[in-house]
Amino acid sequence: MIHLALIGCGSISRDHLMALRVLGDRFRLIWVVDVDEEAARRVADEWGCRWTTDYRRVLEDPRVDAVDIATPHHLHAEMAVASAEAGKHIFLEKPMATTLEDADRIIAAADRAGVVLMVGYVFRYRPAFRRLHDMVADGRYGRPFLAHGLMEVYGPHFLAPWMKRKDQLGGGALFSAEGTCWI
Ligand SMILES: NC(=O)c1ccc[n+]([C@@H]2O[C@H](COP(=O)([O-])OP(=O)(O)OC[C@H]3O[C@@H](n4cnc5c(N)ncnc54)[C@H](O)[C@@H]3O)[C@@H](O)[C@H]2O)c1
Repeated sequence: MIHLALIGCGSISRDHLMALRVLGDRFRLIWVVDVDEEAARRVADEWGCRWTTDYRRVLEDPRVDAVDIATPHHLHAEMAVASAEAGKHIFLEKPMATTLEDADRIIAAADRAGVVLMVGYVFRYRPAFRRLHDMVADGRYGRPFLAHGLMEVYGPHFLAPWMKRKDQLGGGALFSAEGTCWI
């Protein structure tokens, strides 16, 4: 049984929690964190777990095996490095960080600590994308020099304030698919 702390109780956390329900025999959610006290309390009430507004508190708890980081992009590096240094395994929402240097820092911290680090590029596991990957990898189209992708998102046109700030979102369509296609 993996004892998990969820850091960030915003939009995507609902999908994570849905997955945790399905994987209930393997995961137990023991902490939820959000700077928005109401958001943290709501999930904690629903799941019967502890809540806090300070993620460092969960890193101090030796019962926590792993963290699920689902916060704005500019916080990923700080939280992931601190989690690795606390010996926690990490599922980190995409994108890894807002700069290459920060991404390298996260990888180095996870390597040093010997913890599992997984970045949530969930589309990579979709059958259509896997098939596309295999078609390119087996060489039948030669060596690609350009890829053009179009993603349509049908959803609420809601942008959290941090998604409108380049320093917090980071940049580029490949970097942050949802943010950029909604803008
Ligand atoms: N894989 C996907 O399909 C997918 C889809 C949507 C979002 N995401 C990713 O998930 C992450 C979160 O996106 P979202 O849409 O849920 O954003 P959101 O703004 O809805 O949620 C972020 C949450 O983090 C909380 N937060 C902010 N600072 C915090 C701090 N210091 N400590 C603890 N909590 C803090 C906010 O209060 C908010 O509740 C981003 O990395 C985003 O790119 C992935």
